[in-house]
Amino acid sequence: MKLIKVLCLLLLLKLCEPTTSFAQKPVEPIREHLLIDTGWRFALGHPYDVKKDFYNGTGYFSYLAKTGYGDGAADPRFDDRTWRKLNLPHDWAVEQPFNKNASLSHGFKAVGRNFPESSVGWYRKSVFIPAKDLGRKISLAFDGVFRNSIVWVNGHYLGTEPSGYHGFEYDITDYLNYGAENVIAVRVDVTIEEGWFYEGAGIYRHVWLDKTDPLHVVPNGTFVRSTVSDNQADVKAGVTLKNDALHDEKFSVKQSIIDAEGKTIASGELQNLELKALTVKEFTVDIPVQNPKLWDLEHPYLYQLLTTVMKNGKLVDTYKTSFGIRSIRFDADKGFFLNGKRIEVKGTNNHQDHAGLGVALPDELQYFRIKTLKEMGSNAYRCSHNPPTPELLDACDKLGMLVIDENRLMGITDQNLAYLKKLMIRDRNHPSIISWSIGNEEWNIEGTITGARIAKTMQAFAKTIDTTRAITAAVSGGIGSGISTTIDLLGYNYVATKNTDEQHQKYPAQFSWGTEEGSTVASRGLYVTDLNKHELAAYDTKQNENFLSLEDGWKHYAERPYLAGMFIWTGFDYRGEPTPFGWPSVLSYFGMVDLCGFPKDNTWYLRSWWTDEPILHLLPHWNWKGEEGKPIPVKVYSNCDQVELFLNKKSLGKKDMKVNSHLSWMVNYAAGTLEAVGFKNGKKILTDVVKTTSDPIQVAITQESIPFEKPNTAILTVDVRDASGNRVPTAVNDLNFEITGPAKIIGVGNGNPTSLEPDQFIEQINVVRIENFKEKAISGIDDLSELNSPMTDWTDAFKAERTQDFGKKVKALIYRGDFNLTDWSDDTKITFFYKSIGKEQTIYINGKKIADRFMENKKGNDFVLDKSVLKAGKNTIAILATPILKSQSWDSVNTDPGAFQLLKQADTWKRKLFSGLAQVIVQFNGENGPVTLKASSVGLKPATLKLKL
Ligand code: GAL
Repeated sequence: MKLIKVLCLLLLLKLCEPTTSFAQKPVEPIREHLLIDTGWRFALGHPYDVKKDFYNGTGYFSYLAKTGYGDGAADPRFDDRTWRKLNLPHDWAVEQPFNKNASLSHGFKAVGRNFPESSVGWYRKSVFIPAKDLGRKISLAFDGVFRNSIVWVNGHYLGTEPSGYHGFEYDITDYLNYGAENVIAVRVDVTIEEGWFYEGAGIYRHVWLDKTDPLHVVPNGTFVRSTVSDNQADVKAGVTLKNDALHDEKFSVKQSIIDAEGKTIASGELQNLELKALTVKEFTVDIPVQNPKLWDLEHPYLYQLLTTVMKNGKLVDTYKTSFGIRSIRFDADKGFFLNGKRIEVKGTNNHQDHAGLGVALPDELQYFRIKTLKEMGSNAYRCSHNPPTPELLDACDKLGMLVIDENRLMGITDQNLAYLKKLMIRDRNHPSIISWSIGNEEWNIEGTITGARIAKTMQAFAKTIDTTRAITAAVSGGIGSGISTTIDLLGYNYVATKNTDEQHQKYPAQFSWGTEEGSTVASRGLYVTDLNKHELAAYDTKQNENFLSLEDGWKHYAERPYLAGMFIWTGFDYRGEPTPFGWPSVLSYFGMVDLCGFPKDNTWYLRSWWTDEPILHLLPHWNWKGEEGKPIPVKVYSNCDQVELFLNKKSLGKKDMKVNSHLSWMVNYAAGTLEAVGFKNGKKILTDVVKTTSDPIQVAITQESIPFEKPNTAILTVDVRDASGNRVPTAVNDLNFEITGPAKIIGVGNGNPTSLEPDQFIEQINVVRIENFKEKAISGIDDLSELNSPMTDWTDAFKAERTQDFGKKVKALIYRGDFNLTDWSDDTKITFFYKSIGKEQTIYINGKKIADRFMENKKGNDFVLDKSVLKAGKNTIAILATPILKSQSWDSVNTDPGAFQLLKQADTWKRKLFSGLAQVIVQFNGENGPVTLKASSVGLKPATLKLKL
């Protein structure tokens, strides 16, 4: 009898078992790394206005008090139907208008301290986790969120990540509903800046769900190093495993090296390994590789390391690591060596920031940008001044670009060092990275003993993680003291005010290079400086006496072999730091190319001396109507031995070119053709021509090539041409863009530092809530006696608790309230996102019935409203309903009837040309079908282009 009772109890327990228990069932064996960028909801919150911040953090017990108590928008039950739908990556800062009270260093976009209304953003997404995932380890990984993010899953607070530049992940295994939906909520706060350059706002990098066996390779858990000698590389393939099971595990690990054709060329295995429950350990396998193909700048050959973990003869984890085999070395007298060959480092500094998109770059853009820099002869990229987006490093690996990977803030606290470690662990397998930078221009400490101490500690700490790359720091002052006395690889920021020879003599064992150089400021395509208009002639003019021009900067480095090379400030223009101007200049003028990637003339100086191709480039353009007879400075960038200049076929003289230099003439303007002819060994090898154009008659679109396998993004250059088909370099026409097919425009730009035109044209959402919501008992749901009554003896809605007793007294209620509609036009779609407040209900708006007797719907009902029912100003709503009652006193009933969403369609995409060019960036949505872009301008023949995927 007793036994039967026990069995019955066990059976009952079994039946009651929730899906979230530790019930045993088959476990999916192999790792999944799932991109979850699509289908997010977004709305702006508020740093301190509770109502505007969706009542988050207001509960009597909120999320820091008790686990699972995420409240307001962090509550999984929160209704986000009125929020905007979008896909990541996303940057809400770039969507904002420019405002002169906004931050100069961040390009005057209306976010930050002075703009609380646009400084907090909320993201929500629901993900389905299949029941068969129970037993796997599941984590949620963010590659980077700018900034100060708080994340919840199903109302459980997971953590706060202040950094806008580090990836982070949370183990969410135990918080999930298996076989059900799960709600991720993220609050992002950009009230405070991290850098002094445009940083964007929001989830601007990818988000992933990682599913593994409890025994698994930890995130970024592999480390592949190699030493290369003659025809062999000794590869050390390390892997860190974690056993998240609650028991010890025995297993084996195999490390296989796969070549670019997919062939396994070498492998090594470790058997009989053990990990105690909940412990972590690194295992290293030595693998010799015969005749390795080396990674270099021309042939960036990549191998894959495939790590496989076997348990009881069963495969439980696989992990792929892309890596390269190459040797790197710095020499205090001779600079930098890649695979034994001296390489002059020809670098640029860059922030992640592109026209139209801000920091939310589709991966393709990283490749486009690296390709653009490579085309001007650059072979190195400094991630100023923060850990970059992972795909940027992939692009550098794949296209052949050396990298300085930079830490954000110098310091030696646990947090500072943990961030440095995180950066190094994440990025250590990229063959492109040749140096870790511990910091940049820390003015407060760079020349002091405190700086020396901090640098020494950080450098020593970095070497505990990776000894294969040199540690650098970028220093702007205090040479001979502070950081410059202790850092292995000294980075000079701007040598005009420094004596690098003296430092080299004093510290003969120190490696050195220029981490920032060539502070030249220019507006692309403009050749007259007009300080009132914030226009700077593009003739390589240095910022001021404390800086060198690009040419003088390069000469300093090219003449000194002990300096490994230099990084120009900057490759691309970026938002913010509009030196030497302020408002209304919103972009920097430092770039070799503008914010779109359109080249400024300086890129031809670099092509001349940074590449081996024969180059001849003539500037300025030759459209100087009204300047006839007046002298125009003409410059030639070339690596020819001699150049002869002709105006309308008449020679203006032949000049000898000096290495790393340029040629110039003053030419009295006459419309027509200016021609440069380049000679090498006395032979004419090149010509370049600038022609006076006539007015434009037609628009033209060109699709740029992106070195990316299966691109989903297209980059289009738009210009206007005259009757002879010449691009008009001075054109400033207004253009409109239209796209048809399965794609959308995601950003537009033109590189003009003073343009305050929008970067994006997106739908606008305005949410209107019901005010003065009151109630009164009525005899039944069809009792219309109070529909238009004067509301004298009504009470606030839901003042009385919905107990069973209430239900005995009240059979039905009428609720009435009002809502104010302003700012709506014909193309505004107005939707009432209703949440049931009755068991059964009927809804009237302005006395017209919009929904008749429908039952409670916990998911909510969406009513798209006919505008004839609505009016500008005050509208009324009445809901006649039977009450929803609590079964238990602790139950809660919905008291929120929902809200009205006013969705205004995006305006037509447009942009003005700047110096003849504009850029349109298009993203395909993955469906089949032709995509056509049309660009039109009043009075000109429009252009249409069928885009290639
Ligand atoms: C440097 C700094 C860069 C940028 C540049 C502008 O001092 O390291 O981030 O601000 O000046 O000239």
